[in-house]
Amino acid sequence: MLHDPNRVYVFDTTLRDGEQVPGCQLTTPEKVEIARELELLGVDIIEAGFPVSSPGDFQSVVEISKAVTNPTVCALTRANKGDIDAAVEALKYAKHPRIHTGIGSSDQHILHKFNSTREEILERGVEAVRYAKKFVEDIEFYAEDAGRADVVFLAQMVEAVIAAGATVVNIPDTNGYCLPDQYGAKIKFLKENVKNIDKAIISVHCHNDLGLATANAVAGLQNGARQIEGTINGIGERAGNTSIEEVVMILKTHQVLGLHTNINAKNFYELSRMVSSQMRMPIQANKAIVGANAFAHSSGIHQDGFLKNRDNYEILRPEDVGFPSASIVLTARSGRHALKFHLERLGFTLSKDELADVYKNFLNLADGKLDINDTDLQGLMAYR
Ligand code: KIV
Ligand code: ZN
Repeated sequence: MLHDPNRVYVFDTTLRDGEQVPGCQLTTPEKVEIARELELLGVDIIEAGFPVSSPGDFQSVVEISKAVTNPTVCALTRANKGDIDAAVEALKYAKHPRIHTGIGSSDQHILHKFNSTREEILERGVEAVRYAKKFVEDIEFYAEDAGRADVVFLAQMVEAVIAAGATVVNIPDTNGYCLPDQYGAKIKFLKENVKNIDKAIISVHCHNDLGLATANAVAGLQNGARQIEGTINGIGERAGNTSIEEVVMILKTHQVLGLHTNINAKNFYELSRMVSSQMRMPIQANKAIVGANAFAHSSGIHQDGFLKNRDNYEILRPEDVGFPSASIVLTARSGRHALKFHLERLGFTLSKDELADVYKNFLNLADGKLDINDTDLQGLMAYR
């Protein structure tokens, strides 16, 4: 049972779903370092790996379990005893262990991945939860490809695994297929139609194949889910997972939703850089919240408006996510106001006419350069 109905639990899968990305593999010490930072960030659950998949992944779950104290450490399994046994063993040092087991729920997966039937798959899911529950109290069940599953069958499956002891039910949009209203409606249907749904937390796990992962995750929260799964920088299979930093800042920005997390958002910037460099995965410059341009103002109209009042073009503060500062980039699209701002920063105070003269030279220079730096400005002032 939840104490605070508006508290959203943050489940980080950077080290499992994120690490599945080709080229992003990490060593155990690197994973432990990230896990420690995730603990400082305040995530509630760290999915540390898929122990049966390789000896390295197994060892990472062991070491992360030893290294962190507050977050729950979670290990992924398929719905079979061998996977669950490996997870139980790998989690033996975890202060708060969780097993994340599950199976496909869409007819596509049932027929073409498992060559099976709905009845048989449901039974296998229930069996896996019952078996895992013998060893660990906290069991999360994932209904893979729930985004494309028949919602009535999904509800039966969720009801059955809760009866078998699941404490969290994960409704993944594995293929990033849903529209936000469809995904939200699916969560609402489960909330309204599954017996004993309040005995478990509904979790959202959305992929970004259509660029909708964050929107879908938020739609899920608006309809009753209270755990969000995602990764730092949104890394993950194919087009990636929900970005944790995006969801957290959406909840902070839209307080009207009445939802909150335990995340120390000021840690986002540093952790985002760390994950990017360790995983050799550059962050796109226009990535929301943590991209290099997320707080850079470059056109004259925006710069002028920003310099008059930050709120004109800033809905969240860079310092709130640990970003060094907002920036006013000088390009050929910049106006006099931005130029004046930078010249004053460098100690030059000009009259209106003087500024107009320097601005002409500035434009000539800026037309031939990507951006104008302090040395360029000093040159302009020296030769005017
Ligand atoms: O996307 C997915 O369905 C998953 C599950 C294993 C939770 O990553
Ligand atoms: Zn996934």
